[in-house]
Formats: sequence, structure tokens, C-alpha cells
Amino acid sequence: MEEDARTLFREAEGAIAAAGADLKALDAVRVGFLGRKGKLTALFKRLGTVPAEARPEAGRVLNEVKAALEERLAEAIRKAKEQAKRPKSVLDVTVPGRRPLSGRLHPITQTAMDIAAIFNRLGFETVEGPEVELDYYNFEALNIPKDHPARDMQDTFYVSDEVVLRTHTSPLQIRTMEKKRPPIKIIAPGKAYRCDSDVTHTPMFHQVEGLMVGRDISFGDLKGVLTVFVHQMFGPHVGLRFRPSFFPFTEPSAEVDIQCVMCRGAGCRVCSQTGWLEILGSGMVDPEVFKMVGYDPDEVTGFAFGMGIERIAMLRYGINDLRLFFENDVRFLRQF
Ligand code: DAH
Repeated sequence: MEEDARTLFREAEGAIAAAGADLKALDAVRVGFLGRKGKLTALFKRLGTVPAEARPEAGRVLNEVKAALEERLAEAIRKAKEQAKRPKSVLDVTVPGRRPLSGRLHPITQTAMDIAAIFNRLGFETVEGPEVELDYYNFEALNIPKDHPARDMQDTFYVSDEVVLRTHTSPLQIRTMEKKRPPIKIIAPGKAYRCDSDVTHTPMFHQVEGLMVGRDISFGDLKGVLTVFVHQMFGPHVGLRFRPSFFPFTEPSAEVDIQCVMCRGAGCRVCSQTGWLEILGSGMVDPEVFKMVGYDPDEVTGFAFGMGIERIAMLRYGINDLRLFFENDVRFLRQF
């Protein structure tokens, strides 16, 4: 009898292990051994056939086995219930999500768009033109004749005698004025090319050209518009100054300096200790240029300006190496 009880216990242990975390299977084990018609219950019923002197010992063993079995079953059921409560696949909602890989605009493109947006708000319309340009638009019509020394200022890529890669965005001044009558307010972002390559020059770079032409446009308008631009681009507290200069297509001409964005005018390496940084060229449209497009210089006046986008982007983001814009290292580009 005792031997039967122990065998039954091992059998029950096996059944519990086989049932695992399945609550229904565990209940079947319970019924199969401890139920009214269960195998252990059957042993208890056989107790009456055991000789009287052996009965107490047999009863004790049976009770022991029963208690042990109940304990094992209860433990297995507790574990199964706990597991049922846990979600099937463990999902940790506190883990940060994976960012989808997405492209973004190049910092030069962003800066060009931001510059254009400032002028668009002032009523300037964005225009574009060809990068492969006629000598006429790039030089001649801008009051830079073939023998003009100003051509030396620009190391031109010639496609042929009369065709060049535009060395600046200024041809858009001529192309726009040829097509339209004043009043004109345009902004022209785009690529320009010069045969020049070192730490501060790349053969291809970007510029934004601006032009405003109408009746009674004065140097005061030029100063007002460019002051608004500087304050919107670099902040309302950044000072600026207009410094006399020369360009063949403007008279008078001025270059605009802003207070150094690194040292705020105190003097540092970036501004060569001057406290100022040159950011653009500008001036009143030269009467000779108006004559080239058939405008009467006695009737209309205007101003023009041009700036390098790389330079603006470097100042605004604090980038100290021009080449970063052209290497297209994603670790650099991802920061914008
Ligand atoms: N085109 C000149 C350059 O590339 C920049 C410039 C200066 C443009 C004066 C202008 C201007 O429109 O008025 O260096």
C-alpha cells in the first residue's frame, strides 16, 4: 500500500510537470488523483482492506502523500496563474522608439530658403536662372566689358568664348529687367562657379542676389531693407555697418559688415580682431546697367545686393570649415 502511494506520487509529479502552465491540464491532474474517483482517493478506499495493525501506518503515509501532492499542485497552479497574467511577448513601453530614417535639407539649402523667406516677406519675389550663362549676362550687361580689369576679380570657367559658368548670381538682375518693367523686387538664390579651390574657396558655391528697382528708390531704402535682413537673420541686437566699396554694376557701392557673431564685436580669430565680418556687397544700380536693359536712368533708380550663402550658413551655425558643406558626411548633415 505504502509502495503504491509512493509510485502514485511520482506519477502525479510527472503529470504536473507535463501540464506545465496549462491551468486546465493541472485541474485534470487534480481530478485524476485527488477527485472523488481519483487514483489517490481509490487508495484511501482500499485502507479498509489493510490489516488492522498496519492500518495506522498506511493511513499516515497516504495522508502524507496527499498533503505533498496538494502542495505541489497548488504551487504549480499559482505559477501558471502568474504566467497567464504576464503579456505573451514582453513589451517594454518605456523603451524609446526607433526614429524612422528620414532625409533632410542640406544646411545650404535651408539657409538659402531662410534668406529668401525674409525677403519674400518684404515683397521680393524669388526667381531663378541658368548656371551656364552667356558672357553677355554674366559680364557685359553688368558693365564689365571684355577688357575690364574687374574680370580679373573672377576666375571664370569658360565653356566657349561667349559662354561661361556664371561667376555670380548677378546676371539675374539683367535677365529680370529685360523681361519686366519696374517696379521690380526680386531675390535670386543659386549656384555660382569660379576656378578657385582652397580652404576658403570651392569651385562651386552659392549666392543670393537681390534687386529692387522703381521710382525714387534711394540708398536709404537699401540700408533699411538690408538692416531688416540682418536683424531677422542674425538677431535684432546685431550691429551692422555700410563700408564704401566698388563694383562695376553699382554706384555708389557698399559692403555690409555685421558685428562678429562669435565675439560680439570684441575682436577674435574669426573676425581677425576687427570685431566685424563682411557678409555682402551692394549698391545703387549703375546707370550704365539700366541703359543696357533699356531703362531710363533719369526715370528709375534701384539697389542691388549679393551675398555668399556658405558664408551666411557658417556664421549662423558656427561652422569653421567650408569643406564640411561639400563632403556630405551624414554625421555632419544630420545635425541640421
Ligand atoms: N556679384 C558680386 C560678387 O559676386 C556681389 C555683388 C556685389 C552683387 C554688389 C550685387 C552688388 O548685386 O550690388 O562678388
